[in-house]
Amino acid sequence: MRIRNWDEYQESYKLSVEQPEKFWDNIAKTFKWKKPYDKVLDWNFEKPDVKWFENGKLNITENCLDRHVETQPDKTAIIWEPNDPNDEGIKWTYRELHEQVCKFANVLKNNNVKKGDRVCLYMPMVPQLAVAVLACARIGAIHSVVFAGFSAQSLADRINDAKCKVVVTSDGAFRGQKEIPIKDIVDEGVSKCECVEKVIVYKRTEQFIRLENDRDVWWHDEMEKVDADCPAEEMDSEDMLFILYTSGSTGKPKGVVHTCGGYMVYTYYSFVNVFQYEENDVYWCTADIGWITGHSYIVYGPLLAGATTLMFEGVPTWPDAGRFWDICDKYQVNQFYTAPTAIRSLMSKGLEPVARYSLNSLKVIGSVGEPINEEAWRWYNTYIGKEKCPLVDTWWQTETGGILISPIPDVTELRPTYATYPLPGVQPVLLDKDGNEIKENNVEGLLCMKYPWPSILRTLYGDHERCRTVYFSTFKNHYFTGDGARRDAKGRYRIIGRVDDVINVSGHRMGTAEVENAINEHPWVVESAVVGFPHDIKGQGIYAYIICDRHVHSEQAFKDEINETVRKEIGPIAKPDIIQVVSGLPKTRSGKIMRRILRKVASGDISNLGDTSTLLNPDVVEEIIENSPMVKK
Ligand code: WT7
Repeated sequence: MRIRNWDEYQESYKLSVEQPEKFWDNIAKTFKWKKPYDKVLDWNFEKPDVKWFENGKLNITENCLDRHVETQPDKTAIIWEPNDPNDEGIKWTYRELHEQVCKFANVLKNNNVKKGDRVCLYMPMVPQLAVAVLACARIGAIHSVVFAGFSAQSLADRINDAKCKVVVTSDGAFRGQKEIPIKDIVDEGVSKCECVEKVIVYKRTEQFIRLENDRDVWWHDEMEKVDADCPAEEMDSEDMLFILYTSGSTGKPKGVVHTCGGYMVYTYYSFVNVFQYEENDVYWCTADIGWITGHSYIVYGPLLAGATTLMFEGVPTWPDAGRFWDICDKYQVNQFYTAPTAIRSLMSKGLEPVARYSLNSLKVIGSVGEPINEEAWRWYNTYIGKEKCPLVDTWWQTETGGILISPIPDVTELRPTYATYPLPGVQPVLLDKDGNEIKENNVEGLLCMKYPWPSILRTLYGDHERCRTVYFSTFKNHYFTGDGARRDAKGRYRIIGRVDDVINVSGHRMGTAEVENAINEHPWVVESAVVGFPHDIKGQGIYAYIICDRHVHSEQAFKDEINETVRKEIGPIAKPDIIQVVSGLPKTRSGKIMRRILRKVASGDISNLGDTSTLLNPDVVEEIIENSPMVKK
């Protein structure tokens, strides 16, 4: 199943289209199943109802851990590099990780967590987060990891949506020079959640926290009470493995659901092919486990492959902009996977921080989360990959579970800013607005998938109808990604970006409606409209147009308050970069905000605004242009 050259790629691709069940069976049968599946695939995109490896019984942690404990118990499973380079890291072998996971699984059981229960994990990047993820999977509890940068309100919304019974967290978190009061945020969030029975607290920063009687327990106290014997729960292929919330075009986050069998097969398969991981390699993905990238390519994919996976607690720019490269040299990292926003931010710091390190160990470098612009691609390729490491620009989504379109190192031909070819087993198509397939090359269209792959989302938690309408109803019998793409003469794909009201800020997906809802919480705000605009480092920045119910004396003070409101409602990642107070928003006669105009102004381009005379309020466009900091006068 590891593809090693172009002929094998083509052969594999052909097999995956002509005999998909045979193709996936070949891969799936290499795993440890408690009971073999009877059927590889059953699918219907109309409902949608997709089942992979039907009636197969398994536990993903036996495949991530027990299998390797039998064959390579002393191999390092996780390397953990702390925030402060002067502190000591952790290396756990597969045997040690297995033991930690089994013990924490018993802790969960002691705290009344049962198969099917939801557990929320709100933690910094410590190896105990990976342990907690796997411990849930061990006993069949469904994990819902919430990125620890989200606010108390966002956390509470996610906990309530999934009705989580237990929250696992830490006292605090170290991020660069900052110390973040994680437990205080959890206390505030959980105060709005009646479903939460227990909070398990891992001690990381030793800052003072309040433990609530009967509700809060320390991780280390609980670990003392248990042994390391925890049989893996028997799960059905289609039992839920986890929920991960992501943003859509409405204000309410979507709980993307992945299931055990298909997710296991696909994350493993994509990991070994895209990164060409070899036995003694050290692999590092810089994402946070709070996002899908961390789930699939820090925890599950690498551990399924028996790899050594590195986890980093800190930030790329502290103590200085050489921190990533320092870690690459220190651990002799072979595969390095990061986001364009990190590359652009480090690029802006010049070459000195890079020149201090050799980066000799690198073999493959990767990019994920947003389109990588040509300048960043070239810089990454030249100064980090030294023009000898294939740069894999990997396209995928929370909903796809794993990488769908990506170069395969030394197998497929690269092209800067192109994610290039689909992995075998993936069938992308470009459709026009009316749903007709555009078959030729050198074209642009809406990116869809016409056939399921094993880690496709199964539903949105508690809202199957929303899953159907968002992904499967725009075009009959197709999964719609929400992205526009171009296909070049050689059939390679370049992802252009979202075609819906979703923006991508530093690789974090955000719904414009979500940010608007947050802004509207400020008592003076009458209405707001949020759009993305091109941003040198973040890819897209957030531009907020706000109508205020009174004259603001100090615009700066008002903007600070808006930022604070957004920070409280969503988290710091959603703070607008530009706020413009306006007297009105351009609207059609039916009252719909003309976002196209707002997007153009936000990007500083006021050519071709189109006919604004039919608007309800054409004058407001003049005013917006006049006062926009982006429009050069
Ligand atoms: C959206 C998915 C995939 C994990 C991280 C983000 C954009 C993702 C690329 C890429 C261009 C990309 C798309 C996609 N995106 N990877 N290589 N090139 N765009 O996951 O939060 O679910 O966001 O990120 O617009 O739809 P996510």
